Order: sequence, then C-alpha cells, then structure tokens
Amino acid sequence: MAPRLASEKRPVKKAAKSTAPSRHLLTSAELPKVWVEALFDEARRFKTAEKAGHPWSEDLKGQHVGLLFFEPSTRTRASFHIAAKRLGADPVTVEIAFSSVQKGESLEDTVMTMEAMGCHFLIIRHGEALSGQRAARVAKKAHIINAGDGSHEHPTQALLDTFTVLERRGSLAGGTVLFLGDILFSRVARSNIELLKTLGVKNVIVSGPPSLMPSEEELESWGISYVPELNKALAQADVVHVLRVQLERHGQKMPMTPGSYREAWGLTEERLVKFCKKDVLIFHPGPMNVGVEIDREVADGPHSCVLDQVANGVFIRMAILKRLHQAC
Ligand code: CP
Repeated sequence: MAPRLASEKRPVKKAAKSTAPSRHLLTSAELPKVWVEALFDEARRFKTAEKAGHPWSEDLKGQHVGLLFFEPSTRTRASFHIAAKRLGADPVTVEIAFSSVQKGESLEDTVMTMEAMGCHFLIIRHGEALSGQRAARVAKKAHIINAGDGSHEHPTQALLDTFTVLERRGSLAGGTVLFLGDILFSRVARSNIELLKTLGVKNVIVSGPPSLMPSEEELESWGISYVPELNKALAQADVVHVLRVQLERHGQKMPMTPGSYREAWGLTEERLVKFCKKDVLIFHPGPMNVGVEIDREVADGPHSCVLDQVANGVFIRMAILKRLHQAC
C-alpha cells in the first residue's frame, strides 16, 4: 500500500461499548444497537409529524443549546439550530472567529464558561481528534455532542446517513456499502463504518487512491476490504458513499490535480451508467467538490440521496437532543 500523506495523529483507541446511552454523544463506536434503533424510531416519528403538519413539540423547552463550531459548517450547525428550535429550546451560537478563543481561551475554558451561563447542550465541531472527550471531561452536567472532530469521527452524520439508507432501502441485509475516495482523512467514513458494524452490516468495502487509504492494519481492524479497481468496487455496491476530498487536511499537496482525480476516481455519469447497479443509491455528506469526486449530473440525478441526507439531518438531530435530554 502506498505511503500515507502527512496527517494529524489519529487515535486508534476504541471507546468501550456499553448497553446504556451515555450523557454525551462522542463516537459512533460507543453507540449501542438498541439505542440507535430507538433513535431512528424517534426520528421517524418527528418526520411523520412534520408531514402531517403537527405542531412542534416542547420537549426541550427552557433548555439552551450551545453551538461551538471551531471549523466551518453549513449542514450540521444549521440543522442543530433548527432541531433545537423545533423542540422548544434556545440555540446559542458562539461565532468562534469573534469569540475569546481568538484571545487564546482554551476549549475547556470555553466549555465551562458556556455551561456556567446555563447551556444544557454543547454541540462541538473542532479540528482536533477527541476534542469532544476533552469537553466531556470538564462539563459538569451539560451534554456534549461531537459535531466532527478532526479526521476522527462525525457520529451524527453517520446516524443520518444510515437512517437515510434504511429509509430508502428498508434493510441492508446482504447489501454492499462502498465508501469511495479520501478515506484516510474522513471522519464520516470512520463513523459510518463503526455504525454499520454495530448494526450487523457485513459487506462494507472501500475504494480510492492508495495514498488516501488508511493502513492495512486499520482496515483489517474495521473488518473491511480495499478494492483497488474502481469499476469492480462500483459493480458490487448497493450504496455508494462518495467522500469529499479533504484538501484542508492534507499535510502536503494532493497527490493529483482535481482533473486527474476525477479521471481516476470521480463518480462520473459515464461510470454510473456503465458500472453501477441499476438501483444503486448515491450518498455524499457534503459539501461536494463538484467535478472532482462527483459530477453534477450524478449529484443531482435520480440515484442521488444527497438532499434526503440533509433533510433527515434535522429529524435525526431532534431525536438526538430529545433522547440525550431524557437519558439524564
Ligand atoms: N456533512 C457535514 O458535516 O457538512 P457541514 O460541514 O456543512 O456541516
């Protein structure tokens, strides 16, 4: 396997899985299957209620939901904001670029400050792996939710992705799920793979440039295999998760130009028609590098679930807030 790109140190330690939900949501790896299934039921109820035009609940009335995004976000931040509002809570956004973080305040002090002001939840996106665990160590009562920590995990994305797959397909028994592209830097792939494992999905494969793959040992520890020929990987897949090329995390220049990446690894309309199954589902967590890892025709085409993912993100995040609130 080709050498890795320079990257941040990523943890290999696994969180222990319990049978009960914790106060926090930090990794997919720690989520019990029964908790995930109940969460999906809750999200389905919220979605049904919305379709029926029912008024939003007041499940989180009087609660304050702090949004601490140290890295950019559109979907995760806005959907948590909407989810909090729909549950009767007050979202509190700290604009990190104009916050005391710019004066050197640490993550821990920021968390303790927000909690002291009355925040019951802190939704944190941060560039460093395990930043959620750091926050959880100093939070006295607040629920910490990991909204993406470096290249480590993005558990709420995995939950909304898998919820959307199951909504479209009913079951993943016997199906093959492909993660395509920049796996090495993808917190989305890591969280999805852990979650699929918990849910008993056996056939998970990855494909993409060898330089953007984790080590063989890491792939082996996840129980998944690398399929180096893109055409063969696409031909097996019932679900394809196309991953964003994480340019901002590459410690050196991407080993190919956007054009050559598309040529070698991009999900083009031509490849979709030629190699994919007729009923394949195409996912992308967004934001997309259109014309690099995915073509516009594919992203907007009939196989695409991209906007379903975004829409379901609100229901999943409502369910997460409600269930963590109920748990403790
Ligand atoms: N998928 C995702 O996390 O998107 P944002 O960066 O826009 O939140």
